[in-house]
Amino acid sequence: MKKARTLAEPFKIKMVEPLKITTPEYRKEILKKAGYNPFLIRSDDVYIDLLTDSGTSAMSDHQWGAMMMGDESYAGAHSWEHLESKVKALTGMPYILPTHQGRAAERILYGLLGGKNKVFISNTHFDTTRANIEFTGATAYDFLCDEALNPDTELPFKGNIDLDKTEALIKKAGAENISAVILTVTNNSAGGQPVSMANAIALKQLCHKYGVLFVIDGCRIAENSYFVKHRENEYSDKSYYAIAREMLELADAFIMSAKKDALVNMGGLLALKDKALAEKCTNLLIISEGFATYGGLSGRDMEAIAVGLDEVFDPDYLHYRIKSTEYLGKHLYEKGIPVMRPFGGHAIYIDAKKLYPHIPVEQFPGQALVCDLYISGGIRCVEVGSVMFGKYDEQGKLIPAANELVRLAIPRRVYTQSHIDYVIDVFDDILEERTTSTGLRITYEPPFLRHFTARFER
Ligand code: F0G
Repeated sequence: MKKARTLAEPFKIKMVEPLKITTPEYRKEILKKAGYNPFLIRSDDVYIDLLTDSGTSAMSDHQWGAMMMGDESYAGAHSWEHLESKVKALTGMPYILPTHQGRAAERILYGLLGGKNKVFISNTHFDTTRANIEFTGATAYDFLCDEALNPDTELPFKGNIDLDKTEALIKKAGAENISAVILTVTNNSAGGQPVSMANAIALKQLCHKYGVLFVIDGCRIAENSYFVKHRENEYSDKSYYAIAREMLELADAFIMSAKKDALVNMGGLLALKDKALAEKCTNLLIISEGFATYGGLSGRDMEAIAVGLDEVFDPDYLHYRIKSTEYLGKHLYEKGIPVMRPFGGHAIYIDAKKLYPHIPVEQFPGQALVCDLYISGGIRCVEVGSVMFGKYDEQGKLIPAANELVRLAIPRRVYTQSHIDYVIDVFDDILEERTTSTGLRITYEPPFLRHFTARFER
């Protein structure tokens, strides 16, 4: 078919998971009981769950089949050999460590590299990355490229790191005080935007010049490779896998939450080039995660990751993946919903301040939209604004976040086009009722990471 209007999924469904259909009245009650915080809602009461793309993938028949072959031996399991060989081939790195999820790999590596007066630089640190770094007493700097600051400009690589700012800080702080430069691909906290190969090569050269460790946080490395192939001319003839391999070869270390592009529900990886650093990390791994040949994982988990790392580079899968995210973004944009552009790989971000200009930031317009989407359509998503990142000054006044966004993250291989069409339809209600939506007041908040457990009233 030359002009298909339908984005047909490159898989068919062998097992179904029933969804409960509820009414807006029912959901109003549920949300009220949950203190207007969708993190506190039971998943059974959610129709379309766009809270995260992490650990929410549907696994394939090959992955489930491989799980039956899991070797659960404490040491030297063949499932570990299977996984290790896949990760060695993908990264070109000789030392591979399994962990139970991404942040465990972060805790091990950054725990060793960090410490008081140490400095980390990234295009944007993801929140667990920053938390693991700051926990050691070190400081984390985000140097996102200037092009990314305008959410309306259609530029190909708005996830890039700013090389001039990076070099200036290396010079100012002294290379010996820079623990690592971390390139997050795609750049989750900056809208799931990709990083170009040119940017990664230039960063490698910069790190090499000053003898600074270059880490790639590549939990969405396959999605990033898609953008490199289609937006950077020199790479149009290369396979997605070859592009990923080429980018990872540039780095000294690779961290991955397997819960994203390894298409599994649990798992993490740390890969290293340096033997001495790998030995130190292995010691910490054994103390805190498990023996070096399973980390925090069971043999069956390792089998599923090994197979997932192959499947994710399948051209039909990646095309469907990126195009289905784009499909949601494009239709919302055409309706007049203020969405961040270009569309990222794993999620669509909505500018709630623009959608709800009548709700002041002190009343959390993003959280208001999150609540409205749940009531209107049973859709669950997350605020990425002043609830998540807002701070208070000494007088207790809110210092708002830079943006008031709402993230619709798309689980991999889980929802069909008609589910996404449904989400698009729900936005008609949102638009119709936008002027009557009301803000929220916090009635309870914990001292850290308040978005998970805070309670609100309208
Ligand atoms: N790095 C990035 C770029 C991430 O997006 C995440 C997780 C992690 C590290 C941590 O990995 O969850 O396996 O410990 N992101 C999820 C999200 C939670 O919803 O974006 P983890």
